Amino acid sequence: MNEFDQIIDRSNTNSLAIEGFVDYLFKGDVSKSFSSDYTGLISMWVADMAFAAPSAATNAMIKRISHPVFGYTMNFDERYYRAFLNWTEKRYGWTFAKESLHISSGVIPALFDLIDQICEPGDKVLTLTPAYGYFKHAADHHQNELVSCSLKFVEGEYFIDFDDLRIKTADPKSKLFFLCHPHNPTGRIWTDEELQLIGEICIKNKVVIVSDEIHCDLLRNNKTHTPLAKLFPDSDQIITCMAPSKTFNLAGLMLANIIIPNPELRAMWQKRTQAFVNPISLAAAHGVYENGHEWLHRLRGYLDENFSVLENELKAHLPDAIFKIPDATYLAWIDLSAYLPASVNLTRLFLDEAGVIIEGGEMFISDGGIRIRMNVACPRSQLKDALKRVIKVVKNFN
Ligand SMILES: Cc1ncc(COP(=O)(O)O)c(C=O)c1O
Repeated sequence: MNEFDQIIDRSNTNSLAIEGFVDYLFKGDVSKSFSSDYTGLISMWVADMAFAAPSAATNAMIKRISHPVFGYTMNFDERYYRAFLNWTEKRYGWTFAKESLHISSGVIPALFDLIDQICEPGDKVLTLTPAYGYFKHAADHHQNELVSCSLKFVEGEYFIDFDDLRIKTADPKSKLFFLCHPHNPTGRIWTDEELQLIGEICIKNKVVIVSDEIHCDLLRNNKTHTPLAKLFPDSDQIITCMAPSKTFNLAGLMLANIIIPNPELRAMWQKRTQAFVNPISLAAAHGVYENGHEWLHRLRGYLDENFSVLENELKAHLPDAIFKIPDATYLAWIDLSAYLPASVNLTRLFLDEAGVIIEGGEMFISDGGIRIRMNVACPRSQLKDALKRVIKVVKNFN
């Protein structure tokens, strides 16, 4: 059996995927059907994986736990920096100075901290929509308007409207651009040409870019990723966020790498954020950056196959669904507008009728349309079961 075929029971582990969806997706209201008994539900919403983390992580954690003192910990020495630098150099041909690297307790906390440091209340924050919901949550929290730059959807592919981006970045109130690269939920990797234009437009208009590259390691096997900052080695207006959390299914350990090249922003970051790190998380992150390459290679192969299964099932049973295997991420973004009306709440529909927890387009700030985001980082048998249920609901919808 393939290591990723194993079904792991996550009940009673306080996992958001299984136990937290009611509050996150439905604000506590699931009165219609699955009111108390969630057995039989298939969770394919939040972006973590149903797979066991690699032994490169667990062994490193066990080793750290065998030292029985867990006092305040910071990333004092060179070892973690070296391991992560080797990772980015080997995979992306990108390096950065040690003083630029900061460890945060996640990309989400970093988004909230950075917006606070870069924007005054009333300033505007830009992003490409549909988009990851926390870009808006962070802007809302600081009384900043999140300005949507709607992606153009042409023949099943997403493109940036650069005229629109130029106009919106030229607004003197625009101070920050949340770039998601690879992009959640569309799975698009922005090309070097697109990145070049994004960078030039923002730098010219003095708009700081936070390039959220948390999904960058999860590429289809024929794809490559270029960190935005690699294309602009002389600019210090680009902050890069990467993490072992998506790549190695370690989101609960809450550790992300935030690369801040600008000395003033760095000083502000150091003053306002806690540099403490969980010693077990640090050990795991160090372990996977040193020894996680092989596991990631196998994972990517499995995900590629899952996407092929999904594509074939859709072609066979819902031929008018618009779906393209994403360049990156384990998130499938499927347009069902040929089958379902705009009035339907998709998240609710598939929970109630299929017992499959997915996120509908309405969860992605704006421009989500009649689309669903399905997390395919699960055992293939589970994927097939979920697809059967979802296809049945779509076909029977009247
Ligand atoms: C684009 C993007 N950024 C950030 C996060 C969350 O980051 P973290 O778990 O490090 O806070 C996610 C999780 O889905 C994401 O998709």
